[in-house]
Amino acid sequence: MSERKIVFSGIQPSGNLHIGNYLGAIKRWVEMQDQYDCIYCIVDMHAITVPHDPKVLHETTLELAALLIACGIDPERCVLFVQSHVSAHAEMTWIFNCITPLGWLERMTQYKEKAARQESVSTGLLDYPVLQASDILLYQTDLVPVGEDQRQHIELTRDIAGRFNHLFGETFKLPEALISEVGARVMGLDDPTKKMSKSITSRYHAIRLLDDPDTIRTAIRRAVTDSGREIIFSDAPEKAGVNNLLTIYQAFTGKSREEIEAHFAGKGYGDLKREVAEVVIEALRPIQERYRAIRAERGYIDEILRRGAEEARRRSEPTLTQAKHRVGFVLPEELQHHV
Ligand code: AMP
Ligand code: TRP
Repeated sequence: MSERKIVFSGIQPSGNLHIGNYLGAIKRWVEMQDQYDCIYCIVDMHAITVPHDPKVLHETTLELAALLIACGIDPERCVLFVQSHVSAHAEMTWIFNCITPLGWLERMTQYKEKAARQESVSTGLLDYPVLQASDILLYQTDLVPVGEDQRQHIELTRDIAGRFNHLFGETFKLPEALISEVGARVMGLDDPTKKMSKSITSRYHAIRLLDDPDTIRTAIRRAVTDSGREIIFSDAPEKAGVNNLLTIYQAFTGKSREEIEAHFAGKGYGDLKREVAEVVIEALRPIQERYRAIRAERGYIDEILRRGAEEARRRSEPTLTQAKHRVGFVLPEELQHHV
């Protein structure tokens, strides 16, 4: 158990989880459980760095926990917890804040993009990547599976760890980003030039994991394609819509491109759309059934999250304590055995 590499990743509890999130992130997390010592965190503290509705956050946090388990995240084989349950993350962030130059944070592209969209920007939004660094570094993480957009945050995490180690002595392991290869990138159905996104709420943009079969059929029937008739994988801009449907089909069936192109040879876009819809519906059916069973069982999620938080506290305590000791804090007697 302890020789396995440590994997840490986080996901924000925004609602509207879609098949892009599933194919690009969650499915990979599920697969990694076999090989690695995995720690997965629902990052509710990150979610409040932009204006939010408390009731919605409460509901989407519980929904996400249940969905992750329904998708195959197995609390018996990994640590699954909610960030705000483990106060070490906030404590670690404070210490890192005090060694992170402001300029490092002002340079982050995600910060600049989000800040440009808002009238007033909170200190928390600027500090977002420091909290993320704390998430990762508290567990002596080896690997961080994330999307391409998070590469800069992982680099910053390494910089913060390096700076701390340099100032106060070796304390943190420098993690590596594990960026998913292309192919797992699912595009919007209504506009195949844009990544399928939680924040685009137009009606036929995404397929959400909890969508019912008719909603899925309609969204795929309306998906933008081209005026041609060739059903092939292609990078040509005009084939982006067909390519996206084939990519989704491939991701859910596991068939090869050749097999898929041969299967659709001579068929029309109507056939393609009908078949893709049925494949997606059948793939989501068991996930949705498990989701409903989990939500219906009172106390089940609470108990899973309680155990996850307990384990996360146990695993982060030595590193946090070591860091406190290194910066010169006097440790309370009960923690002195860690140093
Ligand atoms: P987000 O929806 O941006 O919070 O992303 C959550 C996770 O899902 C990240 O690891 C993303 O890389 C992944 N993800 C989001 N959208 C897509 C997409 N359209 N295709 C593939 N992966 C995605
Ligand atoms: N910022 C990440 C995202 O938007 C979520 C996240 C928070 C995360 N803490 C993390 C990802 C730690 C990996 C490791 O996708």
